[in-house]
Amino acid sequence: MIRTVPTTPYPDQKPGTSGLRKKVPVFQQPNYPENFIQSVFDVLEGFAGRTLVVGGDGRYLNREVIDKAIRIAAANGFGKVIVGQGGILSTPAASNLIRKYKAFGGLILSASHNPGGPHEDFGIKYNIGNGGPAPEKVTEAVFARSKVIDRYRIAEGGTVDIDRIGETGLEGMAVEVIDPVADYAALMESLFDFEAIRSLFRSGFRIVFDAMHAVTGPYATEILERRLGAPAGSVRNNVPLPDFGGHHPDPNLVHAKALYDLMMSPEAPDFGAASDGDGDRNLIIGRGIFVTPSDSLALLAANAHLAPGYRGGLKGVARSMPTSAAADRVAEKLGIGIYETPTGWKFFGNLLDAGMATICGEESAGTGSDHVREKDGLWAVLLWLNILAARRQSVAEIVRGHWREYGRNYYSRHDYEEVDAAAANGLIDDLRGKLAALPGLKFAGLVVEAADDFAYHDPVDGSVTERQGIRVIFAGGSRVVFRLSGTGTSGATLRVYIERYEPDPELQGQETQAALADLIRAAEEIAGIRLRTGRDAPSVIT
Ligand code: G1P
Ligand code: ZN
Repeated sequence: MIRTVPTTPYPDQKPGTSGLRKKVPVFQQPNYPENFIQSVFDVLEGFAGRTLVVGGDGRYLNREVIDKAIRIAAANGFGKVIVGQGGILSTPAASNLIRKYKAFGGLILSASHNPGGPHEDFGIKYNIGNGGPAPEKVTEAVFARSKVIDRYRIAEGGTVDIDRIGETGLEGMAVEVIDPVADYAALMESLFDFEAIRSLFRSGFRIVFDAMHAVTGPYATEILERRLGAPAGSVRNNVPLPDFGGHHPDPNLVHAKALYDLMMSPEAPDFGAASDGDGDRNLIIGRGIFVTPSDSLALLAANAHLAPGYRGGLKGVARSMPTSAAADRVAEKLGIGIYETPTGWKFFGNLLDAGMATICGEESAGTGSDHVREKDGLWAVLLWLNILAARRQSVAEIVRGHWREYGRNYYSRHDYEEVDAAAANGLIDDLRGKLAALPGLKFAGLVVEAADDFAYHDPVDGSVTERQGIRVIFAGGSRVVFRLSGTGTSGATLRVYIERYEPDPELQGQETQAALADLIRAAEEIAGIRLRTGRDAPSVIT
């Protein structure tokens, strides 16, 4: 039975580009997810009879909200819902399904790398028909609608069994439960030389992939162990748990420390990798060497032609502004376009859709290509494996060889988390105010060549996005970038990105923080971080 249920608005349902993210108890308020999902459907047009993809990363509340989403979709006139068995779909797998089955869009339930559980984070995100996150005009409209919503429509009664593969129905809408891995694995098989990777594993090459008890467990187990022949047990923490085993499913050197320690130990396998809660981020570590996401992007771009899916070459490379310029040198050598976008995956969508870029990446462990419209953790791992299988060199040899050829971009990000919002805004505002006066001035012995507040002119739709981060550029391409996080949940997070280019192979073996010491001092002198935030040191250094 389809019922129209009266409701009252919640004023806080503002979705960002990563969707609506709140603590679980917030989502557990009466009608909270219903209001949001109905608000999404209320602003969309033309979906009657069309398909909606639904799935999530398995975190706490996943099943309950999926059940609601399917029922609200049925009551609003969708023709079909495609849902991953058990409610599981990684973000890139959902993006692929939307594209492959020409769905109208999809609902992805996740809070990415944030922790899960009864008191942790949950999220709902709407993706459009190209498989990518809804653009701002859609998320703004959803927010506006959520502030005045007074009813939602839902199909009540009957059961929706999301555990059994196959098609059933609900109030005239088809519900197809699919294997969450199969279509994604087929896509990967179409892009990469699985036979070459199988023979790499047969030769004794060893990998450890840490799924962090999050969504990539089933994907990595099927692809790496079953299809590619990595020994059983290569994929660790491979069962998605509602609370991710109590850990942060964030593949960085803090939360994936066990993997890092293993890779730096004498017992290290040849290759270590991890992905986050919803499977879109990646961490790559070779034996004894961590590969920064900025270097990884450059390396993948330089070697992508070794994989069948990219044999014809790349159309262009795109990176977010704070990501190091390592990829720029590769694009220059390949004679292809390089695009510098604001932080956030959504800016890559236009470039990918327009065929201007093939590979994209961010310093925050996101890399991907035009195969979907989200970043893709396992894709990056498989491209690395394809390259290793083709070159038969170690990760360290490949990385050092790359530095010798292109130069090394020493790179680090310093995060000051949960600082007072007024202090953080004041710091940025003051920098903005003195931008014009910086060139020619000397900080920590370094002369400023240029300074600006990054503005992006989208070459596809002509839109302009301003105030995306303060860039202070020194001689030789060294730079310091200041910006405030757009994803933090409490207070403000100040991110300081520091980069120095070193062309001389003799000088490429320094410890990163030491190599950047002058620039770190210059950043402090320019912005007065200590005084303004009251912090002696960053909360996180990556
Ligand atoms: C962070 C990352 C950014 C990424 C986003 C979503 O955003 O820096 O690269 O796209 O998470 O995963 P920020 O908190 O810096 O705004
Ligand atoms: Zn994620």
